[in-house]
This record gives sequence, structure tokens and C-alpha cells, in this order.
Amino acid sequence: MTTDLAGSTPEAGLPGKPTAAARTTLSHIMTAHDTNLLGTVHGGVIMKLVDDAAGAVAGRHSGGPAVTASMDEMVFLEPVRVGDLVHVRAQCNWTGRSSMEIGVRVMAERWNESTPATQVGSAYLVFAAVDENGRTRPVPPVIPETETDKRRYQEAQIRRMHRLARREAIKELREKRAAEGFDD
Ligand SMILES: CC(C)(COP(=O)(O)OP(=O)(O)OC[C@H]1O[C@@H](n2cnc3c(N)ncnc32)[C@H](O)[C@@H]1OP(=O)(O)O)[C@@H](O)C(=O)NCCC(=O)NCCS
Repeated sequence: MTTDLAGSTPEAGLPGKPTAAARTTLSHIMTAHDTNLLGTVHGGVIMKLVDDAAGAVAGRHSGGPAVTASMDEMVFLEPVRVGDLVHVRAQCNWTGRSSMEIGVRVMAERWNESTPATQVGSAYLVFAAVDENGRTRPVPPVIPETETDKRRYQEAQIRRMHRLARREAIKELREKRAAEGFDD
């Protein structure tokens, strides 16, 4: 699979789309329904918003349905509270044949402070574009235009390499154990 910074994916032959084309921000005011036992916002509520925003980007970029294949490096930096206005910003960092890495940044505007929004979390998700039968379909290559988008593209390639290597290493270990007669 070759996808370079110019966004060419010869296998798919689809024209590239700039990163900015699908960038999306989802904003939401946190309510008492969103809290955990400590009274701060439940991590799962934030993860749902992250998945929603990333899904919107994946759908926009690929021009059709896309499903979450994985979510990794979900980081919570600071608690979010009731009344906070949360902005979930997502963009397509990288594309493969049918998969897209979506980077998400979670910002919070504190309801009781007149300070700029602070970053409270981030995550990287992989989405796969699918057709009406759930089979994967090719996606347009993303074209990173700004220096930041180019850095994110290169970092996403590193994460992709690590995901594949980890999956392969675990598969090999399981096959080895099965061959040794372990049934776990
Ligand atoms: C994601 C899914 C479409 C992948 O299908 P598949 O038959 O395994 O297809 P492939 O192996 O060809 O993978 C498709 C792409 O996704 C990537 N991918 C698949 N699983 C992945 C994972 N766990 N992590 C990262 N990337 C993954 C592959 O690397 C491939 O990328 P590429 O085409 O850009 O090279 C399929 O597993 C699925 O439908 N999962 C359920 C998705 C879902 O319902 N999500 C919502 C959960 S509630």
C-alpha cells in the first residue's frame, strides 16, 4: 500500500481531498445526566462525542458510510464539569486503502470562567469505509496541506505501523501457543 504526502493512491484511483474538507467540530453543553459518581462528566459521554465527531469526518471524507474499526490513545487530561461547553474537533489525519485515521481534540469552555477553551482530551480512531453490504470500499487519499496537517499525517503513519506490528506479533504468539498445545 502506498499513499504519499501528495495523496496519490494508485490502487484506488480516486482524486484526493484536502484535510480541511472534512474537518468537523461538534459542540455540546454538559448536563447533570452526563455525570459519574464524583459529579464530573463520565468518560464514556466524552468517548461517545469523540466517536460521533470522528464518524462525521469519516463519512464526509469518504463520501458515504464508515464504521469505527478501533479507538486508541484516548486521553483525558482534565475533568469536564456540568455546564461546560465541550467542543470536539476532528479531522482525517491519514488514509489507507479503505481506512482513515481520525484525530480528535476535546476542548472545554468552563461555564464559570471567562478563559479560552482548554484542551481536556484527545484520541485517535480508525474508521473503515463500507458499502451497503458492509464490505470495505476505497477512500479518497487525504491531502495534508498545512505543516501541522503534514506532521499529523506522518505521526499517523507511525501509529498505523505500530498497530499492524502489534496485531501481527499477538497473532504469531497465539498461533505459537496453539501449536504448543495450549488451549487458552
Ligand atoms: C472494520 C471492518 C469493516 C474491517 O473489515 P475487514 O474485513 O477486517 O477488512 P480489512 O481487514 O480489509 O480492513 C479494512 C481496513 O481497516 C483496517 N483495520 C481493520 N481493523 C483494524 C483495527 N482493529 N485497527 C486499525 N485498523 C484496522 C485495515 O488495516 C484496513 O485498512 P486499509 O484498507 O486502509 O489497508 C470490520 O471488522 C467491521 O465491520 N467491524 C465492525 C465495525 C463496527 O460495527 N463498528 C462499530 C462498533 S459498535
